[in-house]
Amino acid sequence: MEKHGLNLTLKIWRQENAKTKGAFVTYPIQNISPDCSFLEMLDQLNEQLVDKIEKPICFDHDCREGICGMCSLYFNGRPHGNDTGITTCQLHMRRFKDGETIWIEPWRSKAFPIIKDLVVDRSAFDKVIQAGGYTSVNTGGAPDGNAIPIKKENADLAMDAAACIGCGACVAACKNGAAMLFVSAKVSQFALLPQGRVEAKERVSNMVREMDQLGFGNCTNTKACEAECPKEIRISNIARMNREYLLSALQK
Ligand code: SF4
Ligand code: FES
Repeated sequence: MEKHGLNLTLKIWRQENAKTKGAFVTYPIQNISPDCSFLEMLDQLNEQLVDKIEKPICFDHDCREGICGMCSLYFNGRPHGNDTGITTCQLHMRRFKDGETIWIEPWRSKAFPIIKDLVVDRSAFDKVIQAGGYTSVNTGGAPDGNAIPIKKENADLAMDAAACIGCGACVAACKNGAAMLFVSAKVSQFALLPQGRVEAKERVSNMVREMDQLGFGNCTNTKACEAECPKEIRISNIARMNREYLLSALQK
């Protein structure tokens, strides 16, 4: 059956840098294949802008496979768009209707300043990881998979927490700009495993302190982060992080 391309109106946030004011600019785009991805649609728009000697739109991306967490776009009022459990790069244009208007914005949060257009600086996440998202004990060579017995339930929960790709959608979705879902996933993936217990106290206290200093807000349990997380990280990780933090404070 013959497929017809989509004709869309894109309202895209353009901003030269963090010091200048930004605004939405309207771009009509025609004949977009329903089979192409959202980022491929933006690629096509950029090719058209370059052909007209206009500045292309800056947006972040890398793997385009839902792995790296770079494609930080907020569209139609939701981080990573209309679908649930997927990143922007995994969203296909068949999810949109012909004639639709799509509003595309960068992540908006004090801790993620805009670099240009749709690109924001998420190095605050790197700083949180540098504060404790690692193990510094020498673990030697790769051990046999079954050398350390780990409860199946804990192994599964640690694996689920480790699925966090550090995209920042949880922060963008939160009215407080809180990074609790991200930090708690990183704390949990270690706290649940014997290898991570060695430095558990220092890790949680250092990561939470760094998170607070970097300007992220506080959690007020709205669950917006959980609803928008493309990797479906659960807020039960936040409860675990809070318990770990309390334990660490009491044992000082
Ligand atoms: S918790 Fe989810 S939304 Fe937040 S950074 Fe990780 S993957 Fe992205
Ligand atoms: S570009 Fe890597 S997750 Fe989207």
